[in-house]
Amino acid sequence: MVDAPLNIVVLAAGQGKRMCSQKSKVLHEIAGRSMLAHVLASARSLLPNKLIVVHGFDGDRVKAEISEDDVIWVEQRERLGTGHAVLQAVPYLEGGITLILYGDVPFISGRTLKNLVQLCDGDQMSLLTAIINDPAGYGRIVRGFDGKVSQIVEHKDANAQILEIKEVNTGFMAIPTCRLKEWLGKLNCNNSQGEYYLTDIIAMASQSGLGIGTMHPSDLIEITGVNDKVQLAQLEREYQEKNAFALMESGVQLADPNRIDVRGTLVCGKDVYIDVNCVFEGEVRLGDGVRVGPFNLIKDATILDNTRIEPHCHLVKCFIGKDAVVGPYARLRPNTQIEDSVRIGNFVEVKASHIGLGSKVNHLSYIGDAEIGEGVNVGAGTVTCNYDGVNKHKTVIQDKAFIGSGTMLVAPVQVGSGATVGAGSTITDSVEAGDLAIARSRQINIAHWESPFARKKQ
Ligand code: UD1
Ligand code: CA
Repeated sequence: MVDAPLNIVVLAAGQGKRMCSQKSKVLHEIAGRSMLAHVLASARSLLPNKLIVVHGFDGDRVKAEISEDDVIWVEQRERLGTGHAVLQAVPYLEGGITLILYGDVPFISGRTLKNLVQLCDGDQMSLLTAIINDPAGYGRIVRGFDGKVSQIVEHKDANAQILEIKEVNTGFMAIPTCRLKEWLGKLNCNNSQGEYYLTDIIAMASQSGLGIGTMHPSDLIEITGVNDKVQLAQLEREYQEKNAFALMESGVQLADPNRIDVRGTLVCGKDVYIDVNCVFEGEVRLGDGVRVGPFNLIKDATILDNTRIEPHCHLVKCFIGKDAVVGPYARLRPNTQIEDSVRIGNFVEVKASHIGLGSKVNHLSYIGDAEIGEGVNVGAGTVTCNYDGVNKHKTVIQDKAFIGSGTMLVAPVQVGSGATVGAGSTITDSVEAGDLAIARSRQINIAHWESPFARKKQ
């Protein structure tokens, strides 16, 4: 049934009381995105015909936070069990195969799901099971003498003999849709929890002669669910540790694999070094030989070869060329493009600006909406005054210009190539190439000034 339609149903109606939260459990973030968003990303990698999320508690917020419009939302008004939850999705199911996922098990991989779907065909359903040392809480996989799965018994309904079984139901399963529909209609809630258990269809499958194929995930993190904030933090650490080891195995040098957080994708060239306590968000690319100092937050950025990021920088949606040095304590805001060999120093903020090859902005400056050429030197404490209270205006500084310390550049304004601006100037008119502009009131010295302090003493 490889080409049969595929429906994916994600169960996400539970409140998750133990999260002690006003928002739905599945909206809690792990590695920088909600648990539900992780699950949906893996689900989408299978290119399903239908992607259905069963929501309940806090449903409006859940819907609002998932921006993609490929999801069919189905409400489960009363939380009567996993079988009842899947039943809500039945009107939307096409034929073929239905794959069931949980919204609070975030790291299930697309590859495992593909294998699970491939194990399912018209004559067989498939279950993802795992062997666990401490299986408490899980439904147990019961097998007959022939080794075939005969039923799943929930922990709360299990006798002592069944509680000994260490093979558990992870909850992930793929079933021929027509059989699923038939069996969901036959479920009852005669069990210790008074719920409609999805797992009861396994016994029906076994009795009907449908094959039940089982497989294990490649890593237990794939099937680890979250019930409270302790487990959320533990799973986050487990994920970060695995990610850090994968980075090191690919050649990245980490000062301490326990002190890096990747909330998105970090792609590194050769011989990248990352010091402690750095956070990478969104899509970050680091070229060969990039060095990232301690305590940096880098989000949606590309940094080319051999550039050095000194400690305590905040870099968001920006591009930095080769051989540059940024920081310590620099802030690069969205739409900033820094060319090769640029130097951005301490307490410098740059927003929506382009800074050309080899230019320097070394100390205590604000550069916003600016186009800065090559070989420019911007002195300490320079501010592009880009905002008049309503509109933003552009500052242009051409190649090799020299801006003295403490300059206010009142935009729109242009400083021509090779021009010089005297320190402390407030520049409101453009400066021609090669000119010197000084715009400050002349200094007045008053001789023999009697200070108020001196007067008081008399
Ligand atoms: C379920 C399985 C159990 C398995 C375990 C794995 C059943 C009856 N039991 O148990 O065999 O070992 O998961 O973690 O299926 N949900 C709804 N609506 C409901 C009930 C649940 O959407 O009415 C959702 C929850 O939000 C959650 C998932 O279904 O994402 C699983 O529900 P949960 O109550 O955690 O099931 P378990 O008792 O853990
Ligand atoms: Ca659970």
